[in-house]
Amino acid sequence: MSDTVRYERRGKIAVITVDNPPVNALSSSVREGLADSQAKAKADPEVEAIVLIGAGRTYIAGADIREFGKPMTGPGLQQIINDFENSEKPVVVAIHGTALGGGLEVALGCHYRVALPSAQLGLPEVKLGILPGAGGTQRMPRVIGVKAALDMITSGDPLPTAKAKEVGLVDEIVQGDLLDGAIKFAETVAIPGGVQGRRVSQRTDKLGGADAAFFAEARKTTAAKARGQIAPVKIVDALEAAATLPFADGIKKEREVAQELMSGTQSKALRHVFFAEREAAKIPDVPADTPTRPVKSVAIIGAGTMGGGIAMSFANIGIPVTLIDSTDEFLDRGLKRIKDNYAVTVTRGRLSQADMDKRVGLIKGGIGTDKIKDADMVIEAVFEEMDLKKTVYRDIDKFAKAGAVLATNTSGLNINEIASVTKRPQDVIGLHFFSPANVMRLVEVVRAEKTGKDIIATCMQVGKQLRKVPVLARVYEGFIGNAMLRHYGREAHFLLEEGALPQQVDKALTDFGYAMGMFGVHDLAGNDVGYRMRKAAQASRPNDRRYSDIITILCDMGRLGQKTGKGWYRYEPGSRTPIPDPEVEALIVAESKKKGVERRPITDEEIVKRCVYGPINEGAVLLEKGIALRPSDIDIVYVTGYGFPSWRGGPMFYADTVGLKNVLDDIKRFHERDGFYWKPAPLLEQLVREGKSFADYQAGR
Ligand code: CAA
Ligand code: NAI
Repeated sequence: MSDTVRYERRGKIAVITVDNPPVNALSSSVREGLADSQAKAKADPEVEAIVLIGAGRTYIAGADIREFGKPMTGPGLQQIINDFENSEKPVVVAIHGTALGGGLEVALGCHYRVALPSAQLGLPEVKLGILPGAGGTQRMPRVIGVKAALDMITSGDPLPTAKAKEVGLVDEIVQGDLLDGAIKFAETVAIPGGVQGRRVSQRTDKLGGADAAFFAEARKTTAAKARGQIAPVKIVDALEAAATLPFADGIKKEREVAQELMSGTQSKALRHVFFAEREAAKIPDVPADTPTRPVKSVAIIGAGTMGGGIAMSFANIGIPVTLIDSTDEFLDRGLKRIKDNYAVTVTRGRLSQADMDKRVGLIKGGIGTDKIKDADMVIEAVFEEMDLKKTVYRDIDKFAKAGAVLATNTSGLNINEIASVTKRPQDVIGLHFFSPANVMRLVEVVRAEKTGKDIIATCMQVGKQLRKVPVLARVYEGFIGNAMLRHYGREAHFLLEEGALPQQVDKALTDFGYAMGMFGVHDLAGNDVGYRMRKAAQASRPNDRRYSDIITILCDMGRLGQKTGKGWYRYEPGSRTPIPDPEVEALIVAESKKKGVERRPITDEEIVKRCVYGPINEGAVLLEKGIALRPSDIDIVYVTGYGFPSWRGGPMFYADTVGLKNVLDDIKRFHERDGFYWKPAPLLEQLVREGKSFADYQAGR
């Protein structure tokens, strides 16, 4: 018998328990165990019904992703599912935790599904660039209808039990002990004809209403949302097969598409992102058993854009916050913004008024740094000015209780310098949240020279608790993400002076898969972000390199972006749709002329290379300097914080797919042409010399 599946008898009910921690993934040993248990239950004349359940924190959370791309061993999942469905003895699946992917497909093959109220049921394969390949695209529409199945499978988002019951995916909600409830339920269906009408593959009653026009429209809207990702569109094909072909033919179509997607680069990239996110939590010199400090209350200094968003993030997970500013006026403005933000979520139906009240109730305002004294964690989010941060940190040192974690949300100031004004630099760390902080998942956890390991472990844990993705970085100008962004931004601006227009650059980048192009982002964030610094730096610029001033000129013209109705584009009142503006084109052309640059046609290929290879080259520098721990951490920063397409795996994974030699050859060409920027990173040159990839580099460390 398999050591990951247990079989026992409870009276006339056979109980099959999958016990494969941590998430009961369907590894070959689980599949073997399921096949053996099925045979046992079938052969035992005393058994009248079967309950399938998961041990530990969850029911089966899907196929074992680590086995993907490797030769298959053990029985196939399809066969196991078919055998459950064909069983003459009713099979009841008992669901808790997450029934995902292959796990839910097993459940769809069984005759009944019961679940705890807290369970989630979903087919998230699209997030791995594949589709549910064990009958999910054929059985799900037969249970919940084509439209609902399309939404569920193309989004990959799970349904909570209550909703799953409403659409017919769950037959009964179990209150109390799940196994007891499932056995009781199984006893009621352990009757002659108990499987009658319960074999999903034989159902067609929910397949109506999805005609050719429905699928044509679905294909169009899905492709638009997918922005270059293949799997969602292929899922529409598989669902069309479900609606129009006999079950066996639909399964054939599903298998064909599944194989094609599984061997493609997009799926490899998305699987890389899945594991990279989890790998980022592991820090070699801060082992998982490093003691952490309890964080039950937080004080945030600075009730501005970031302070407010960070406060909401903590309130959202039930941690009380004291939000501090220097005057009543600023504090009230900050507290009002938080309430307004929550109110919008309530209006959109994504939060109840009661939950909003609870969260708002967890955020108390205060004036003066002495209000931090009871907090387990202090997060400073005042203006980005070193002298001010040092003043605030002297006060923090004075008032914070012993043992408190002292974090700064600086976007790039030297945290060693900030820590140096305190008597406890070991407690000081960077927690770089991204805007809007209540929405964005990335948090760079910035380790300064003297930061204690327990503080690092605490912040990584708090980041995960906040349902964010914490990635460790070291002190460097712009840490990981903004250091790379500098190269992206610089090239996007130079491209304008050389012959491109904002709309062309943005289109090339969105066609590549970016959520938005550089200039659309500028207009959204406000072109005045960093204006004062840019203006002040103009006087003391070294003359050995090139600069672009167009953004500064736009600001001087009052073209601050969406908020003024004009920026790199113009906007109709109340609309966020960017409209190319001849005035901006004239300005850009004039700038080229002023700089003596002859404008030339620029290809989309050049735009993508210059905007993506710059960050890759910088990424190699960050690895060499130890600012980032591993290439996959850089990928996660860029995918979760900067809109880089996840289906390209992040910039470092993407570089591997292009081939590092090809990337380096272009970088050398750009360097020759530019003369100053684009100096090839020594690590990149070394890897090319050795014929290695970033993946090899990561594996070899
Ligand atoms: N296969 C292999 N390992 C998996 C896994 C899977 N399906 N799901 C999770 N793990 C591993 C993680 O890598 C992690 O390992 P480490 O501790 O070594 O880093 C560990 O399990 C715990 O995972 P999380 O840290 O993510 O735990 P969590 O509690 O935060 O989340 C979860 C649990 C919701 C199940 C989440 O892990 C998840 O979403 N997993 C992926 C689920 C999924 O995509 N399933 C579909 C698979 S594809 C499929 O099933 C195809 C098919 O049709 C046959
Ligand atoms: P902001 O200007 O919106 O808010 C700063 C707040 O700090 C203001 O409310 C101000 O009154 C308050 N403040 C100033 N001095 C204070 C003092 N001595 N005591 C108490 N409160 C004081 O600024 P924002 O954008 O929230 O930025 C804060 C920090 O976060 C900066 O270090 C910034 O670099 C960083 N950051 C900003 C991001 C963004 O997109 N806005 C993204 C990531 C980090």
